[in-house]
Amino acid sequence: MIDKDKFKTYNEVFDNHTLRLLFELSSKGYFDDLISKIKVGKESNIFIATKGNEKVIVKIYLLNTSNFNKMKEYLLEDKRYSNLSNRKRQIVFTWASREFRNLNKMKTANMNSPRPIYQKENILIMQMIGENQAAPPLKDYWPLNPDDFFLKLIEEIKIMYQEAKIIHADLSGFNVLNFNEEPYIIDVSQSLSIDSANATDYLIRDVENINLIYKKITKKEFDIRNVLNYIVGKTKELKFNKI
Ligand SMILES: Nc1ncnc2c1ncn2[C@@H]1O[C@H](COP(=O)(O)OP(=O)(O)O)[C@@H](O)[C@H]1O
Ligand SMILES: [Mg+2]
Repeated sequence: MIDKDKFKTYNEVFDNHTLRLLFELSSKGYFDDLISKIKVGKESNIFIATKGNEKVIVKIYLLNTSNFNKMKEYLLEDKRYSNLSNRKRQIVFTWASREFRNLNKMKTANMNSPRPIYQKENILIMQMIGENQAAPPLKDYWPLNPDDFFLKLIEEIKIMYQEAKIIHADLSGFNVLNFNEEPYIIDVSQSLSIDSANATDYLIRDVENINLIYKKITKKEFDIRNVLNYIVGKTKELKFNKI
């Protein structure tokens, strides 16, 4: 029997569509219970959920991200506006499915990244990085050996580029987790194919952002040009530090 009160605590947080979908996915066994909220964002809410003895991450993309959207949603429940509804939701669903596809590409390239488990509409279920609790983001948990950590991170970005063939496009201390001194790249709904327009600009920005954290931690800097050439395969030699 489905426990109708299971997600009652979240009635305030979620729209009806999301509540129904949570019921559906949990009754199909993708997860048991939402147990804690990691982050409430403007675009998504992140929960830890139990699944048997394991924990998984449930990422819920918000369908109504502001009051304006909320109002629109009320309108959209009116059948006359159903086209509008479909279009708007479809954008969010596509955003979620893009993250799922990108995570798949990353896993296929054997990257340190969450294994995607399932995605339907605006809900994505993926492996939790961490043991018992979610691994902390790099911004909160600096590596003990920064050179080693950042070297590994650059390797990951290189594999992401050369094998998964995507550019993160929002790389930061929030979107790199430090799990037992290993970098794990997450949050890839915005990540784009390397042959997209402006791909190079995004890659440069990603490397510059990573350099900023590196600089904050070590007071040293990357040789950005060399790091970029290394990532795209123009050089096999990573010099890493600016002299
Ligand atoms: N698979 C995961 N394992 C562990 N922690 C995660 C995972 N996915 C997300 N998180 C945590 O939730 C936060 C927000 O997730 P993220 O995917 O970056 O969403 P947003 O798009 O809101 O930034 C991350 O900074 C991280 O702390
Ligand atoms: Mg993020």
